[in-house]
Amino acid sequence: MDQKPSQFLRFMAELRDERIQKDPMRFRENLRRIGRVFAFEISKELPFHEITVATPLGEKVMQAPSQEPVITSILRAGLPLHEGLLSVFDRAENGFISAYRKHDETGTFQIKMDYVSCPDLEDKTLILCDPMLATGSSMAVCYDALLEYGTPRFTHLVSVIASQKGVDYLRQKLGHRNCTLWVGSIDPELTSKSYIVPGLGDAGDLAFGEKLQD
Ligand code: URA
Repeated sequence: MDQKPSQFLRFMAELRDERIQKDPMRFRENLRRIGRVFAFEISKELPFHEITVATPLGEKVMQAPSQEPVITSILRAGLPLHEGLLSVFDRAENGFISAYRKHDETGTFQIKMDYVSCPDLEDKTLILCDPMLATGSSMAVCYDALLEYGTPRFTHLVSVIASQKGVDYLRQKLGHRNCTLWVGSIDPELTSKSYIVPGLGDAGDLAFGEKLQD
């Protein structure tokens, strides 16, 4: 995202601030607000056509989007971001993917996917969102899984905070595809457990509470 200072950066700062994070309702709302900003920026890339609107006093030629996107998100942290995008693209179709990291004894992990619910994607504009782009592997695995539902005309990948490693990985994996990656910030490091530093912590836990196991 364009980093010319705007209210967007206040939302980002609140999201990262460990004191403000103590209020999960505000954390979720900041993710929604960020989703709305991304949606407005993405909408500038979509095709529009002229429509004529009748007001009580006359007619006005205006512009309307030519196609509604399909918004898909990776559960569970993606949900508030999804809601923010959907509140702007309020006629979008929707899809959901359950994907998580399954850690093994060696400290590495694989991405496990339990559930995909998605409409037809053939020739549509796809938005795939996941707030945290750490290694980039969840996003790449989920994108591949979505291709089972048709080949999108164009895909907008949306993350609030990315690591440089995640961005590089997606560029290498999906750089040849019809995709744009939108990120609010690129952070320099990953921990040994692939958490982004400075990042914000665990987005799913902050939004919805700690879970029993990873
Ligand atoms: N998922 C998170 O919630 N946080 C990270 O830093 C990386 C992945």
